[in-house]
Amino acid sequence: MKFRIINMLFALCLFFTSASAEDEKASRKPLLKVPPAVFAVGEEYQILVLAPDTLVRLRIGDQFYSDHINGVRPSRKSVHRFRIPMQVLERAGKYEVFCRKLPKRLPYFIQTVPEPELSVSYNFRKIPEKDIRIYHISDTHDRFETPIRAAQASGRIDLLVLNGDITDKMVNAEQLEYPCILAGRISGGSIPVIYTRGNHELRGEFAEFVQDYTPNRDGKLYYTVRLGPIWALVLDCGEDKVDELPVYGFSIDCARHRQEVLEYMKQVLDEGVFKAPGIRYKMVICHVPFSSLVARNKQDEVMRRRFLIYGEWCKLLRTRLLPDLTLCGHMHNTQILQSNRYPFPVIVGARPGSGEKFTGAFIELKEQKAVVKFTDQDGKIESETIIPLKKQ
Ligand SMILES: [Fe+2]
Repeated sequence: MKFRIINMLFALCLFFTSASAEDEKASRKPLLKVPPAVFAVGEEYQILVLAPDTLVRLRIGDQFYSDHINGVRPSRKSVHRFRIPMQVLERAGKYEVFCRKLPKRLPYFIQTVPEPELSVSYNFRKIPEKDIRIYHISDTHDRFETPIRAAQASGRIDLLVLNGDITDKMVNAEQLEYPCILAGRISGGSIPVIYTRGNHELRGEFAEFVQDYTPNRDGKLYYTVRLGPIWALVLDCGEDKVDELPVYGFSIDCARHRQEVLEYMKQVLDEGVFKAPGIRYKMVICHVPFSSLVARNKQDEVMRRRFLIYGEWCKLLRTRLLPDLTLCGHMHNTQILQSNRYPFPVIVGARPGSGEKFTGAFIELKEQKAVVKFTDQDGKIESETIIPLKKQ
């Protein structure tokens, strides 16, 4: 009897100890909205962390990284951006995020929380050299649950591509965060993500701030990416219709923007970085399947003239790059396009269905082929295509 009472007291003691440890853990949980999004741009990772009213810094190995802006550590914007050379993160294989709440930013004696910073660690896995597994999502238009299920149903993913129209329209500040939220929730902060802007993300009063909440090259939303054996050219079409339409009310200049993208493409192709040793897969990633727009608007003279620029894009890519694959969205349908004007497979890889349905594209890059499966929110394979790849 005596032993039983002692045992009960011991068990109670253990219960309260573990409960208070749990409380302690909960009260110190990190201040991040979702896991970070590790976006790839050029030869760096841009790690975007969503944590409003918070000072954030990153540690990789022994080195701390700050997101200071001309010396000021930001706290008012909900997003923090850390630019890390790819080699640094890939070598470390993990990173740690440190947060300190800053409720009110006074000019003097700022009332930061005095306790030690809260921190959370993330493992990071670089792209493998072979058998690369990519999941492609676009046109989620404010959906989260079904595209997340579709990506997770494919098992291990090495690279996530968010190919535009993740947000339906930028009418409030929170919607600016949607690409980071979707990227963070699917990737868990542990694999690289490539993002492109969709045409819907040019709409609404917050559209002019999109580059502040997404990866960019000095503010530009078109750039190249090098990830192991993959070299990708990320393009941005802007809006999907001509600037003059009354619906835009003089608010866009995408004709000029597309011309600037063309100039950038020429510069990149002249530099020839895509010919570097070790590159085995050349990809173009763009929300709008621009190659199909060249011919599609023959009946509308204004549209035809305006989109002649896409003919120039296609000619440049056909004669100078010869991509293995082009990934697009926008059509709200899944298909693989090929035409004489642009004789490379264009994978149009997402279909947002009604209600609980969402289909994305699961792409496996193997030695001499790409296996493309359109898979739904339950992992059901709707179709499978094998695309032969050239030996680089
Ligand atoms: Fe679109």
